Amino acid sequence: MNVRSPTAAPAWRRLTALADSWRGDALRRALAADPARAATLAADAPGLRYGFARQCLDDAVLAQLVALARSRDLPAWRSALLAGEAVNDTEQRPAWHSALRAGAAAPPEVHAAHAQMRTLAARLREGSWRGATGRSIERIVHLGTGGSDLGPRLVVDALAETATPRLRVGFAANVDPLDLSRALRDADPETTLFVVVSKTFTTQETMENARAAKAWLMRALPADTPLDAHFVAVSANAAAARAFGAGEVLPMWDWVGGRYSVWSAVSFSAMAAIGAEAFDELLAGAHDMDAHFASAPLERNVPALLALVGVWNVNFLGAATQAVLPYATPLRLLPAYLQQLEMESNGKRVDRAGHAVDYATAPVVWGAEGTVGQHSFHQLLHQGTQIVPVDFIVFDEAPGDPARRAILAAHAEAQAEALARGLDDPALPAYRRYPGSRPSSTLRVERLDARNLGRLIALYEHKVFTQGVIWNINSFDQWGVELGKQLAKALLEKSAHRAHNRVPAAGGTQS
Ligand code: F6P
Repeated sequence: MNVRSPTAAPAWRRLTALADSWRGDALRRALAADPARAATLAADAPGLRYGFARQCLDDAVLAQLVALARSRDLPAWRSALLAGEAVNDTEQRPAWHSALRAGAAAPPEVHAAHAQMRTLAARLREGSWRGATGRSIERIVHLGTGGSDLGPRLVVDALAETATPRLRVGFAANVDPLDLSRALRDADPETTLFVVVSKTFTTQETMENARAAKAWLMRALPADTPLDAHFVAVSANAAAARAFGAGEVLPMWDWVGGRYSVWSAVSFSAMAAIGAEAFDELLAGAHDMDAHFASAPLERNVPALLALVGVWNVNFLGAATQAVLPYATPLRLLPAYLQQLEMESNGKRVDRAGHAVDYATAPVVWGAEGTVGQHSFHQLLHQGTQIVPVDFIVFDEAPGDPARRAILAAHAEAQAEALARGLDDPALPAYRRYPGSRPSSTLRVERLDARNLGRLIALYEHKVFTQGVIWNINSFDQWGVELGKQLAKALLEKSAHRAHNRVPAAGGTQS
């Protein structure tokens, strides 16, 4: 497979030349000249339509982007990913998250883990899971961080309207003591279950929160009460999870990366909230997107197109950031989820051959729910000096008052139109003009439900993978987060040593 620099591809040079014609007011002119753009610059995937007529590109650019993907051997890389080959080369591991949602074709250990999750989640949902004093569990506090937090948190929030009212599910990710104490506000120790999720079971923040949770239970319950019924652990390090005292341990595996693990037992708390049937739908939706990614021609392959449009904006038009604006409160956590997915995966400066790259990789991903952001950062989107490509995400069907839904939809459309077409009326003072030609795409999702949520998350996973292939980087390691962890450990050791020897900190006083 091709692991040479993408800049060596003839398509890269052609795209560099084409980019010149897409600066200034080119998009506005293209939209005015071709009313059929919206119909042609769009592609369908299961449950959603990706419209990119408001991007600064045309068929000629698209053809070269697809040629670039072919020159990078995207089809071969895609097959390797989906077949579970060791595409994570620095750690010699597969990134086989697609196997978690492969239905009957999933590996036996995945079936076993999902079955175990179902049994435990059913006990929680029907009220037959009892804590140490015999009372039913009513509250789950999920402790994890990064990929062991963001996915289930997103699923629980996105599908909150369908969650069982029997269980209250909260999350604590930060080692800031206030995060856990807020999650435990009004909680009754006798009816609270902690789900400790850590692939390694060594992540300091999660381990400290788990220990604090145990201390909270011990303070409240009679001395020597066994606490195992109050702890479920999800980990690839089962021995450490058992040693911690978890009554139930659900597995994770080396071949699933943390930020790709929402399909696994990492989402046990989410399954307890939304039910096994809805969780199966989430998996089925992701599988729909896997099948589309595996088989649709690149010209109509939505994850590939989303990735290629991103590459065009970053590498040829110079965008440094990418906004994701879901016009849907249930997706308000999607930007945070995508920050880890995209930036931990593709925020890399060294290619697969170990050379520093001389082209941009992942942009800064950010965003917030519409319409809320309109009253804050949209000023910069419309009139600022930076060009920020936007992904608008809208649902055709979602619960609630149709009149307010229509207002929400009108705002999403209006924002995309205003960005693209601007308002350059010479009669207006400069500060009231809008330059337009600011790029955006719209992901129009048929309805808000578990299946479409699965499709949407898997769509972005494959986008990230495709961009990693184009940029010749390994999307599945995250060495960049290690140095800070080591330095924090050293600082803590140093201060423990000082405290032990009663040496005052430089410039500080000792009490
Ligand atoms: O520090 C980053 C990271 O390693 C993520 O990649 C991961 O999702 C998160 O920490 C949590 O790791 P663990 O599940 O091992 O606690």
